[in-house]
Amino acid sequence: IQKIAVLTSGGDAPGMNAAIRAVVRACVYNEIQCVGVYRGFAGLIEGDFKELDARSVKNLINRGGTFLKSARSKEFITPEGRQQAWEMLKQDNIDALVVIGGDGSFVGASIFASEFGFPIVGIPATIDNDINGTDYTIGYDTALNTVVDAVDKIRDTANSHNRLFLVEVMGRDAGDIALNAGIGAGAEEILIPEQNMGLERLLESLDRSKKSGKSSSIVVVSERGQLGKNIFELASYIETNLPEYEVRVTVLGHIQRGGVPSCYDRVLASRLGVGAVDSLLRGENSVMMGIVHNKVKSVPFSDITLDFRTIDEELIRVADIISI
Ligand code: F6P
Repeated sequence: IQKIAVLTSGGDAPGMNAAIRAVVRACVYNEIQCVGVYRGFAGLIEGDFKELDARSVKNLINRGGTFLKSARSKEFITPEGRQQAWEMLKQDNIDALVVIGGDGSFVGASIFASEFGFPIVGIPATIDNDINGTDYTIGYDTALNTVVDAVDKIRDTANSHNRLFLVEVMGRDAGDIALNAGIGAGAEEILIPEQNMGLERLLESLDRSKKSGKSSSIVVVSERGQLGKNIFELASYIETNLPEYEVRVTVLGHIQRGGVPSCYDRVLASRLGVGAVDSLLRGENSVMMGIVHNKVKSVPFSDITLDFRTIDEELIRVADIISI
């Protein structure tokens, strides 16, 4: 392998820059040329490439977002789009590709790799932590800290006014952000897509906590765990059925995707970036670098999208006990 391209794809995540930096520097270390692809697979199809050296990635380890920019490409889903991407790679004499992104990006990458026999290694980066084959994804830890920090602030005002706050967090179909940030921020209840507690149980729980002397409460609500309602409908449902509660809603939104990456995410990104280049040099293809029991591992693409990750029952139990 003499030339490796690297791109970021899908929703951005804090730590993507640190991952690009690690890939570039691992290439330089191994005397391999490195090329950055702008705007994910869209830029791959258009040949939007730039040579990167060790100094091109200076002062990036601490920056959120992705300097290569990211996109969700519709064209790459089509055989014509992938053919065009292949031609661009050949034209530039690129031998292998590192894709930094989420499972959607790996689906496209996997198809491309098998169609053209082109070596691709993935690095999991998404705030959702929803990828099989890795204990953590890059950006998740930073997002958790952002949510906890926001909920701490909400708690101040909730407490001053004796209010109940519903705080909506991201995560797509995964409740990892809600569950872990909810425990970390001391939430009263945590609503996640993996476990539908039902409206009745929610009301009972809130009623019980009011009677136990709690003056204010925080309910962390995953974006797809809203018990068949949207968060504003849920707020008015609670106010109608438990009039003693004054309810407010905060949707945290995209602040969860930005910000300075945490130390954990920077280290994870650095390890997986170096691991990706090592993997290509070992001759691997169609694998994702994962962190499993704190060891860097290659996981075949075919193993990461099979079934959905299950939520940790122990965490649910802890959340229940400590919110009493
Ligand atoms: O996958 C990351 C994520 O932020 C999800 O948590 C969320 O559902 C989605 O992306 C939002 O996507 P967009 O930025 O395209 O609105």
